[in-house]
Amino acid sequence: MKEGRVFLVGAGPGDPDLLTLKACRLLQAAEAVVYDRLVSAAILDLVPRGATRIDAGKQPHHHPVPQDEINETLIRLARAGRTVVRLKGGDPFLFGRGGEEACALAAAGIRFEVVPGVTSAQACAANLVLPLTHRDLSQGVHYITGHCRAGAELAFDWDGLAEPRTTLVVYMGLANIGKIAGRLIAHGRDPATPVLAVSRGTLPDERHIISTLANIGTDVRRTVLASPTLFIVGDVVRLAQKPGTFEHVLPEEQLATAY
Ligand SMILES: C[S@@+](CC[C@H](N)C(=O)[O-])C[C@H]1O[C@@H](n2cnc3c(N)ncnc32)[C@H](O)[C@@H]1O
Repeated sequence: MKEGRVFLVGAGPGDPDLLTLKACRLLQAAEAVVYDRLVSAAILDLVPRGATRIDAGKQPHHHPVPQDEINETLIRLARAGRTVVRLKGGDPFLFGRGGEEACALAAAGIRFEVVPGVTSAQACAANLVLPLTHRDLSQGVHYITGHCRAGAELAFDWDGLAEPRTTLVVYMGLANIGKIAGRLIAHGRDPATPVLAVSRGTLPDERHIISTLANIGTDVRRTVLASPTLFIVGDVVRLAQKPGTFEHVLPEEQLATAY
């Protein structure tokens, strides 16, 4: 029997044009694909008809499949000699639990490889011509998760995140963005700092709203953005342009305050 192998592959943010060539080639040659909720239908269309498809994103009654079960599935398929693609939204090593899967595969002695993907922060920013760093506005980027275990506190270096000349990207922040904004303001970040929320970035139904740290909690509740949504906080948001145009998203008078 041939030796099985697992490829932990990043599917990017949803637009199939943002798949890497390597991801595309591996998908077309896969014998089994274990995919997440965030992987778009257009990308799954690349999987050959005869390949086994396993949806690791949901079980009956919409409970997520436990991580241990996903690890065991990958190990079982590889031990059966299959070429397995484990397909994850964005990049597998950014808030994707790819690290846990890599450790489980290594511990089981399975051959595996990691194929990076375009993370949603980069893709959403690029779509709006919004550079995450800029010589005059932001010297660094923090990526954080806005999600924490039930009952747990969001534990961050709030002083570091409140540093004005940095950009903050919040993944999985829909439920807690108001709380996060409040903590940033309490630690000294200007309440007028612009915040961009991008829902379903790069997909045909992408939506975005622009607000401020002071108002984002209320604006998000009012607008009801679809999942997945990410938030970009910082002065670079003032540079954002409407997709496909040369018009700024923010009005001229607010842009002027960036410089
Ligand atoms: C479990 S994390 C996975 C992140 C993924 N590994 C990546 O690199 O983008 C899920 C979060 O990613 C963000 N996300 C993923 N795809 C997105 C998209 N197309 N538009 C906006 N946000 C997205 C959202 O913040 C979502 O809650």
